[in-house]
Amino acid sequence: MEEKIDVQKLIGQALGARTKAYAPYSEYQVGAALLSAQGRVYPGCNIENASYGATVCAERVAFFRAVQEGEREFQAIAIVGGKKGEAPEGFAYPCGICRQVMKEFCKEDFMIIVAKSIDEYEVSTLGELLPHGFGGDCIV
Ligand code: THU
Repeated sequence: MEEKIDVQKLIGQALGARTKAYAPYSEYQVGAALLSAQGRVYPGCNIENASYGATVCAERVAFFRAVQEGEREFQAIAIVGGKKGEAPEGFAYPCGICRQVMKEFCKEDFMIIVAKSIDEYEVSTLGELLPHGFGGDCIV
């Protein structure tokens, strides 16, 4: 758990997950690789639906897979996104709903890596991307 995170390896796994994206409507393909506290990696891709609101983002697919496997604590997530058939042009920061799902399971120092390639990336924490977030401790 205290081992240093291999950021480039995690980005590579997100790029691999992106190849599985099901995005026939937007043609915007996203991949994520979620690193648990125990060191296991859970990939996710976006899965769209003809009823657009039923679409699920790559990040949430990764989280839900991990939680279903019994994971509850996480260190980091790498995210890549871009037009189908092209390398990512920009940084795919997580949407608000995904940030809220992260808030449920992660601490403020959870690392969010957005990447265009394995050597072009930006790193933030959940606390930076979701300041003053609403969590279980708010419900009293
Ligand atoms: N998408 C993600 O997978 N993650 C995000 O954080 C933002 C958006 C997906 C949803 C949809 O399939 C496509 O990107 C375009 O919005």
